[in-house]
Amino acid sequence: MASTAAANFGLNDASLIRTQGFINGQWVDAQEGGTISVTNPATGEVLGTIPEMALTETKQAIDAAAEAFKAWSKTTAKQRHDILKKFYDLMQQHQDDLARIITLENGKPLSEAKGENAYSASFLEWFAEEAVRTYGEVVPSAFPQIRNVVIKQPVGGGSILTPWNFPSAMITRKLAAALAAGCTAVIKPPPETPFSCLALTELATRAGVPPGVINVVTTQANVNEVGREMCSNPIVRKVSFTGSTPVAKALYGLASGTMKKVSIEAGGNAPFVVFDDADIDAAVTGAIACKFRGSGQTCVCANRIYVQSSVYADFASRLAEKVSAFKVGNGLDSETTHGPLIHERAIEKVQRHVEDAVSKGAQVLVGGQRIQGTGTFFAPTVLADVPQSALINHEETFGPLAAITRFETEDEVIRLANDTPVGLAGYFYSRDVGRVWRVAEALEVGMVGVNTGLISQNVIPFGGVKESGIGREGGHGIGEYMNTKLIAIGGL
Ligand code: SIN
Repeated sequence: MASTAAANFGLNDASLIRTQGFINGQWVDAQEGGTISVTNPATGEVLGTIPEMALTETKQAIDAAAEAFKAWSKTTAKQRHDILKKFYDLMQQHQDDLARIITLENGKPLSEAKGENAYSASFLEWFAEEAVRTYGEVVPSAFPQIRNVVIKQPVGGGSILTPWNFPSAMITRKLAAALAAGCTAVIKPPPETPFSCLALTELATRAGVPPGVINVVTTQANVNEVGREMCSNPIVRKVSFTGSTPVAKALYGLASGTMKKVSIEAGGNAPFVVFDDADIDAAVTGAIACKFRGSGQTCVCANRIYVQSSVYADFASRLAEKVSAFKVGNGLDSETTHGPLIHERAIEKVQRHVEDAVSKGAQVLVGGQRIQGTGTFFAPTVLADVPQSALINHEETFGPLAAITRFETEDEVIRLANDTPVGLAGYFYSRDVGRVWRVAEALEVGMVGVNTGLISQNVIPFGGVKESGIGREGGHGIGEYMNTKLIAIGGL
């Protein structure tokens, strides 16, 4: 639908801006007629509205996905491969428009949004190639008269609930695996950044994804009647969620009632450790990439930076110098290196963590407060001498706050790093090969970056341990959307 929203985005292809939900191949409004406004976090301006959908539309979407599953699950892997490759090509063709949508609704700088688009599209290419390799196996039998064959089958219609920090990539990381496996989907995009999801849905349709295979239900919250239905309706056979740990627990509880297959990527509290044998320049570069990507709004961001005593002062001053050179602003400006936070609640949390740390003795080296004016901007901040008891060392900040804590020994820092109920990612810098193995094995996380602050790629098993999640996405994650079935053939 051509709309004022489309004009607000200023795209080459205005028809990528969709302001309705998508059910059974039709763009639709909410039955009750309600809408949700979506704002640009850099300016506070309304970009457009999306429907405030409810239970009726959710049930329709789930039914459509279940009906479409009958035919989609029977397509050949090569047919699904070809459609996903076409979808990938369309994402490449429209990369400038898709990046602009990400920047306008999420705030991240355009260069970073282009990076997200490439990352997002890479899941379509990867899973197109995985679709044709969902091999089964022949298992030697325990009995002479029986032969065992193991096959993989798609689980069914699934629910996909995604966060606003990667408006595009968190959709394709799940959706591409689901479609490649032969599953259908109902997607609930976040209310802050729904337009990327809707544009991807438009492109999927152009690529030839049949009606009902992808459905999109737009709504305000995860744990409302929509989210509850998506996770508890008995015909939904899979739930995939990325978001906060408290919401993940609520949705996991709902999905358990009918034993759905579940993939969850929840919050992290990543330690970033710099040992005294590290290359300090490389560690500073890695800390910046890791901590300040998306203005600190990623689940794999460094949340706690532990630096060994003898290199502490050097690392802290070099990090502070680099951070003070950041250019914070509207992501559409070419000078901008770091954009706004997503909303007021995000600002409040960072402010609370700064105040708490300072009240416990931390020193502000750079930043430390909100940037006044329009938009939700927080000055990139570096705190030194942060005590282990500070809130930031125990809760995910999700903002541009680098908190540095001093440590003395390897054993001590491993204990500090693991002193958290979550375990998504962890990072450390060291050039000692023995230490590299020891620490990598000791960290209680799903992913370790050694001498790198960036680990995200389509090919890796992305996911956490402890309260950071269940299952893995990317890599061989197509298996999360498939059941393993034994066929034992007797009477030979
Ligand atoms: C996330 O923050 O949830 C995902 C980050 C990534 O894929 O790199």
